[in-house]
Amino acid sequence: MNSGFIVYPGSFDPITYGHIDLIERALRIFPRVHVVVMENPRKTSLFTLDEKYEMIDESLKGLEGVTVEKWEGLLVDYMRQTGARVVLRGLRAFSDFDYEFQMALANKYMCPEIEIVFLMTNVKYHFLSSSLVKEIFQMGGDVSRWVPPPVLRYLEKKLAKK
Ligand code: PNS
Repeated sequence: MNSGFIVYPGSFDPITYGHIDLIERALRIFPRVHVVVMENPRKTSLFTLDEKYEMIDESLKGLEGVTVEKWEGLLVDYMRQTGARVVLRGLRAFSDFDYEFQMALANKYMCPEIEIVFLMTNVKYHFLSSSLVKEIFQMGGDVSRWVPPPVLRYLEKKLAKK
């Protein structure tokens, strides 16, 4: 099992301090984290894949051991193509469990050689989600304590366009 790096896939629409906290904690266990922005066909994205990639890249600048990538297609195809073996997912409330369990089992079925590692959310970000950030921001609320400055800029740009 190649445990030199761990793949952290997500739709990151947009990345929040909750995601970043998870990445920082994963870096204490794995020497490298590959953050991979992917499409989630179950969700309608506010940002394009490129915008999400740029926001993550800017937000994680200076964090050693992190690589940011984007991928259009199945997670298991990314894993096969890159030779990656371990996937990282965060678990917040109990309500995440069903969805995560279903995805983990489907991915494991399609690609038995991978393992999926779950880290529990930091209690500070237990309630935090990208959807919540967008909703609060769109209604004029202050989200600066939940997203890094590059994301705030992108949110402002998007909102100004509408
Ligand atoms: O942050 P999210 O939206 O919970 O991330 C979900 C994501 C992007 C990891 C998932 O939708 C995904 O793996 N998308 C790529 C397509 C894929 O492999 N789908 C099958 C999942 S079993």
